[in-house]
Amino acid sequence: MSDDASADTPGPRHTAIIMDGNGRWAKARGRPRSFGHKRGVETVRKIVEHAGDLGVRYLTLFSFSTENWSRPADEVGALFELLKLYVEADLEGLARRGVRVRVIGRRDNLGPDLVAIIDRAEARTRDNDEFHLTIAFNYGGRDEILRACQAVARDVAAGALDPAALDEARLGEFLDTAALPDVDLMIRTSGEQRISNFLLWQAAYAELVFVDALWPDFSRDDLARAVDTYHQRARRYGGVDAGAA
Ligand code: IPE
Ligand code: IPE
Ligand code: MG
Repeated sequence: MSDDASADTPGPRHTAIIMDGNGRWAKARGRPRSFGHKRGVETVRKIVEHAGDLGVRYLTLFSFSTENWSRPADEVGALFELLKLYVEADLEGLARRGVRVRVIGRRDNLGPDLVAIIDRAEARTRDNDEFHLTIAFNYGGRDEILRACQAVARDVAAGALDPAALDEARLGEFLDTAALPDVDLMIRTSGEQRISNFLLWQAAYAELVFVDALWPDFSRDDLARAVDTYHQRARRYGGVDAGAA
């Protein structure tokens, strides 16, 4: 994994992607939705391989939302199986390439076998710092904020935290993404233009780029174009452009 973005063109350091459109991709081919999800894993491999070249150092991928439980059981099962297969097949290669793997989202309603796989992936790559791949699985932004609030309340009740000492940075430490910087660029594929409960806190000032390609068709060139679009944006964070004052 190379990291050859030059210093004068810093990449969107943290890029988050809502990988959408697998079902439509499969339907267009007369195949079951799970076929689209399977093909989507190939896109994950490709994008993980190339993102570093485009200046991305933190890549966070939305792969199963807290709302996706409402899908048919066989589709939910297929998505769970694909996460296991992906980690089992790719973990060693990712680890050797210096990738740190994290999984964010709820754990308490996942099976022990899956939790064990997630724990193993995180432990195996704990010392890596070349590239940070975070998979949002069983993840919802509201759920994450809610769990953080519960943890804060527990600490306050135990006398370990003074409510007056709670600020944005401190609250951020209670989130699943405590170790990650804020999102710079959020991409959604498949033409839909919504956030669907992804990284609500972390993307407060992210640049949003919506791409028509369905996730199985999303290419390195599509990613490069989204990064170019990001570079054309003026990020103001509520201020004014430099020189405009
Ligand atoms: C993948 O695309 C996103 C996941 C929830 C895994 P979808 O399965 O949402 O595909 P579409 O949007 O129905 O085409
Ligand atoms: C968002 O896609 C969740 C993931 C990509 C994992 P959805 O397809 O579930 O979102 P909606 O239903 O179109 O908002
Ligand atoms: Mg969808």
